[in-house]
Amino acid sequence: MQTTENKNQIKIGNVVINSKVSLAPLAGITDFVLRQLIREYSSTCLLTTEMLSSEALVQRPDANIAYTNGKEEPAAFQIEGHKPDLMARSAKILEDRATIIDINMGCPIKKIVNGNDGCSLMKNPQLAKDIVVAVKESVKIPVTCKFRLGWSSDTKNFVEFAQLMQEAGVSAVTVHGRTRSQMYAGTADWNEISKLKGEIDIPYFANGDIISPETAKECLEISKADGVAIGRASMGDLSIIHRIEKYLNEDILIPEPTLEEKIKMLKKHLDFQISFRGEETGIKFFRKFYPTYIRNIRGGGEYRHRLVTELNYNNIVSILNEIVANAGNE
Ligand SMILES: Cc1cc2nc3c(=O)[nH]c(=O)nc-3n(C[C@H](O)[C@H](O)[C@H](O)COP(=O)(O)O)c2cc1C
Repeated sequence: MQTTENKNQIKIGNVVINSKVSLAPLAGITDFVLRQLIREYSSTCLLTTEMLSSEALVQRPDANIAYTNGKEEPAAFQIEGHKPDLMARSAKILEDRATIIDINMGCPIKKIVNGNDGCSLMKNPQLAKDIVVAVKESVKIPVTCKFRLGWSSDTKNFVEFAQLMQEAGVSAVTVHGRTRSQMYAGTADWNEISKLKGEIDIPYFANGDIISPETAKECLEISKADGVAIGRASMGDLSIIHRIEKYLNEDILIPEPTLEEKIKMLKKHLDFQISFRGEETGIKFFRKFYPTYIRNIRGGGEYRHRLVTELNYNNIVSILNEIVANAGNE
């Protein structure tokens, strides 16, 4: 079956994504703010929210955890949980604001897998299937899911799992090329992901360790995937997805932003967090991002230490100016 309309598009159910690149879901990271900023650089990529607890959504449908301004399209909203009924109800709550509902079947963290959510669903394919069927019945938009190679190196069931999810009705899958046992150690196995080729009729995104336009291209070639999903590399470079799209679509290699450009991005990201969350919460929330923008520079450790302990906005801006000025003197 033909899964792509042309080489730069991916068809997910009845939705055409004019890109081969998606922003992978990152809890605590791919919030409304980061998604909006990435959208400024790429009008075409598929954005994904952080995982959203189905229980929390059903208990408090009006809470802000799934905030959007309605201008994110195309955007997948990812739900997390293991009870088909709650997953179906949470998908329904999100349907109006989402282009796609994505189901988390890959999260490796203890709290999640001990509750039978995330990657533990790979050990319980029947339940995973029941969830997909229930979600499919409750919404009209396409449903996708994201998982790993398997629970452990001797139980890599991603090919059968993908086939089962397709049978249950998902319109695309994303595979992170690690097992649950690996957590985030080692390297993502793009070659292993290529085993999906010819085994499913729906598009698949390869994910894990893509850090540049060149590695995105290499991953596509090795994994034979229809698209790539970019996670951690979106932290610290708001233009990464745009740069990858330019390279894949037009063979144009835009260099990595300079330190000065990265500090400008950081400042924009910080300012947006503050306007979204308020000054104190925004500054505290942003602390995890400093190391991703400021790395591989002389004295980086000292700057990062000063930034993560600073609560005064003007002082933060002074430190950022100092970083740029000192880099210019080197
Ligand atoms: C901080 C963090 C949060 C994550 N949150 C989610 C999540 O909410 N849902 C999900 O499916 N995967 C989540 N992941 C996994 C990523 O989507 C991705 O599969 C993984 O980081 C590998 O891709 P990368 O090397 O491009 O980051 C998370 C990963 C990290 C590091």
